[in-house]
Amino acid sequence: MPLVKFTNEKKEIEVPEGAVLRTEAIKAGINLNCGVNGYGESINKFMNCKGLGVCGTCRVNITQGIENTNKLTTREWVKFKTPVSFPPDPIPCLAYVGNEDTMRLACMTKVMGDIEVESSPDISLFGENFFS
Ligand code: FES
Repeated sequence: MPLVKFTNEKKEIEVPEGAVLRTEAIKAGINLNCGVNGYGESINKFMNCKGLGVCGTCRVNITQGIENTNKLTTREWVKFKTPVSFPPDPIPCLAYVGNEDTMRLACMTKVMGDIEVESSPDISLFGENFFS
């Protein structure tokens, strides 16, 4: 069974192959529906699209083992690459800048092998990621 390591939460869980990352995190008591740069996590924990790939609040960075996940889904592509997604929400796009190869929506990510996950990756509007 694949091993998922959550670096911020310092927790490791085993999941069935092909399991959805967000679902397994919830089972383990980990909230991946976070806020922006540490703000809004308590609200997003309850106010989210419940895994439909629409709200974008379950952004995660797969810091190791991205090859052990499914390919980017159409919903993720729309959420990350089109600021006019519905509902309008530029935050996932901003978070995607600089993390194009590793950012995923946890609710759209299937775990096929060992991975390492950074929950709630920071958005840097004025750092090296955004204006570089
Ligand atoms: S829970 Fe809304 S996009 Fe994943």
